[in-house]
Amino acid sequence: MTSSDSTGFDVAKIRKDFPILDQTQAGRRLVFLDSAASSQRPQQVLDAMDNAYLTSYANVHRGVYQLAERATNLYEGARKRVAGFIGASSPDEVVFTKNATEALNLVVGSWGRANLKPGDAVVLSMLEHHANIVPWQMLAAERELEIRWIPVHDDGRLDLSELDRLLDGAKALSVTAMSNVTGTLTQLDQLVSAAHAAGAIVVVDACQSVPHMSTNVTAMGADFVVFSGHKMLGPTGIGVLWGRAEHLAAMPPFLGGGGMILNVTTEGFTPDVAPAKFEAGTPPIVEAIGLGAAIDYLESIGMDAIRQHEVELTAYALRKLTADLGSSIRIFGPAEPHERGGVLSIELENVHAHDVSQILDEHAVCIRPGHHCAKPLMRHFGVAATARASFYLYNDRDDVDALAESLVAARDFFAI
Ligand code: ALA
Repeated sequence: MTSSDSTGFDVAKIRKDFPILDQTQAGRRLVFLDSAASSQRPQQVLDAMDNAYLTSYANVHRGVYQLAERATNLYEGARKRVAGFIGASSPDEVVFTKNATEALNLVVGSWGRANLKPGDAVVLSMLEHHANIVPWQMLAAERELEIRWIPVHDDGRLDLSELDRLLDGAKALSVTAMSNVTGTLTQLDQLVSAAHAAGAIVVVDACQSVPHMSTNVTAMGADFVVFSGHKMLGPTGIGVLWGRAEHLAAMPPFLGGGGMILNVTTEGFTPDVAPAKFEAGTPPIVEAIGLGAAIDYLESIGMDAIRQHEVELTAYALRKLTADLGSSIRIFGPAEPHERGGVLSIELENVHAHDVSQILDEHAVCIRPGHHCAKPLMRHFGVAATARASFYLYNDRDDVDALAESLVAARDFFAI
């Protein structure tokens, strides 16, 4: 195990915080390369959640006893941490959801339903995850909306040559900050300014970028940004919708129930203000606390250091896989490491992605095969599936070497 890479990033020290990584499978060191699907959690996050359950658990925003007030303070403290982490101007702009998919459904179901009428156009990109496609398609079917698509170059970068034409008259642009398939970092500055110039709001799916690099939603200039806790060292069951205060104030509730009202009579109800307006029912209390602890952990390492480490690791992986597998491998996504995150989708010549993954599992290397919930992109690339390795702060060059070695074994096994 290398203790640090050329950037001085101390992976060996970090890995000590992740007990799950300290295991073997059939005598081999476990190599976890599936953080784009769901990351692992450090002991600090597990401890924060245990501690909340053991010492400070009660429902939030309801009881007036001290235990309930402690739980409420921890839950609202997590909201403040999220707001600080993403540069929100106020914690009131942070809505906790079940996951990023629910956050996107909230935007479409609330903002979309209130603002889009038949004939209106929404612009998506070919890089989108189904979570940023299907909710819009559902509303499009109901409201007769037009969906326009920003095309993608063969190297996975968005083709923005027709952007102004696509945005002409559009009401919303909903786009990923970083592809979960190719790792492409999209040109958000250009996308946001072009969309706003055209009068469209901008929704950013930041699930893959927020865990891996410094994010400032205010500087980004978008209208809504969504991400999930489980890809950034936090638990499952917690996602975030950040929205501009003026949008959240104007939008109708998405789900109805307890916790989101000021008053209810037999005639009707008066909704609370944001973020409570969008948090119907008992929220994911301990999950939010876990997310807060994950943010503390990430900040203790430093988002710029994490990004630098992953750029270095991705550059190494691109060199290593190309050198060891030559023409038998196709690597999707931009060749320039600074234009991408640490998500590496590959196609191994004559070997199905699921077979690749199975052979890699025999080498204790965990990757994800499949369409990655991005079927339009798969169709564009002319493949049914890719084999995807994804890196995080606990991965190092030894992990990349294990990936390369097991891919060579998979290629050679199927060549026989
Ligand atoms: N969206 C997650 C992925 O890309 C699950 O794997």
